[in-house]
Amino acid sequence: MNYSEKVLEHFMNPRNVGEVENPDGIGQIGNVNCGDIMRMTINVAQNRITDVKFKTFGCGAAIAVSSMVTEMAKGMTLEDAVGISRDDVAVALGGLPDKKLHCSNLGTDALKAAVNDYWCKTGHPEKVVPLEDDHSEHDTETGASCCSSDERGCGQPDDGGAA
Ligand code: FES
Repeated sequence: MNYSEKVLEHFMNPRNVGEVENPDGIGQIGNVNCGDIMRMTINVAQNRITDVKFKTFGCGAAIAVSSMVTEMAKGMTLEDAVGISRDDVAVALGGLPDKKLHCSNLGTDALKAAVNDYWCKTGHPEKVVPLEDDHSEHDTETGASCCSSDERGCGQPDDGGAA
């Protein structure tokens, strides 16, 4: 499988690895097909993502995608951040092999889930956006949140930041 130089560079030197302190939003999702897991934590101020970090248990493409998504999202408004598409990420990485496009859904969906979690916790469940993929069969944490029971299904853990 051929990866672009940018994918390889982000895989070898991933940015924003870890967890932000006192996260305002947490998104953790898994890919039902490959079993990979991604967790994103965000800090938010004045409707912008001021910091974002990731932990990914997954393939090299998923790690490169996570790294790129965090770079793209930092400083964005929440609305712009949830508008990042998997194609945006793939383009920013200089392309991804077709078989690896689902890995970029994991990245954009983990970010969306973190923003959804923030919106839920701050009393704005009406802003919750749908995820690209259905990760419901592979959620690794469960727990009630303000939007876990609605049809948009962010289904995020409400653990207040506990790892
Ligand atoms: S193969 Fe699972 S995210 Fe890439």
